[in-house]
Amino acid sequence: MTRSTGGLGQLAATYLLRRGHRVVGHARNEQRAADMRRDLPEIDDVVVGDLLNLQETQVLASQINVLGTFDVIIHNSGEYGLPDAEILNANSLSPYLLTSLVEPPQQLTYLTSDLHLGGDLKLDELRTGGTRVNYHDSKLHLATLAMAIGRRWPDCRVNAVAPGWVPTLMGVHNGPYAPDDLREGYMTQTLLAEGADPVAQFEGEFLFQREPESRVHRAVRDIDAQEALLDAYAQRTGVPLPRN
Ligand SMILES: NC(=O)c1ccc[n+]([C@@H]2O[C@H](COP(=O)([O-])OP(=O)(O)OC[C@H]3O[C@@H](n4cnc5c(N)ncnc54)[C@H](OP(=O)(O)O)[C@@H]3O)[C@@H](O)[C@H]2O)c1
Repeated sequence: MTRSTGGLGQLAATYLLRRGHRVVGHARNEQRAADMRRDLPEIDDVVVGDLLNLQETQVLASQINVLGTFDVIIHNSGEYGLPDAEILNANSLSPYLLTSLVEPPQQLTYLTSDLHLGGDLKLDELRTGGTRVNYHDSKLHLATLAMAIGRRWPDCRVNAVAPGWVPTLMGVHNGPYAPDDLREGYMTQTLLAEGADPVAQFEGEFLFQREPESRVHRAVRDIDAQEALLDAYAQRTGVPLPRN
């Protein structure tokens, strides 16, 4: 699970560990990895790399592959309130690179947001080395990427999850107004990972609080848009999506 030293990632990791599952966490640097091992001593391992940095992300992919093939990977990456270039790297290009470079698991989940509705794919920015990709755009990228991967890799169960506006550090960035339930913010991706709850029947869905969300940007389910995004990612990163 990427980005799991705090927020929804840490809550999901904690829940899964308490239920007896093996979990590998991810931290941005060695200090935060040590913090995570201290906070969650049952954790199997912690991989290290700052998702703001695409070279570190590529090294992170190699670290993950050394550990073997995973049953489930949760792409929990998401920065808010940073300059566009950093949002683009952390929220969009890094999850794409990890998806392409890490041995495919049986299940993939991508954390997106209802704010994706205000986003634009901005494919020309991706293709031409531009950086004007904001949080809304990046979350549209992830939801569209999730549906593209689900279609391209039929042996992998893929979903996008919007956690709601919940009171994590990110959720209180603009003030203490987060209206949604914190527990629901991590249970959908956690129950998908466990596989026993009825939510685990879903595949190729955009989920909110364990149910399919009807208000989804039209690009997300548009196959031409999905393919154009994959092409733009390959052009931008030099890393094509492998066949699975
Ligand atoms: N909270 C909400 O209301 C909300 C709403 C919609 C969508 N989401 C999405 O849900 C996901 C989880 O969000 P959250 O609310 O848990 O966020 P959060 O509160 O900001 O999460 C904080 C965690 O992210 C880690 N992190 C931040 N930047 C990192 C980087 N570059 N590399 C590695 N780790 C990094 C932090 O590490 P350090 O401890 O080292 O700082 C910390 O552990 C995100 O994808 C977000 O976009 C959240």
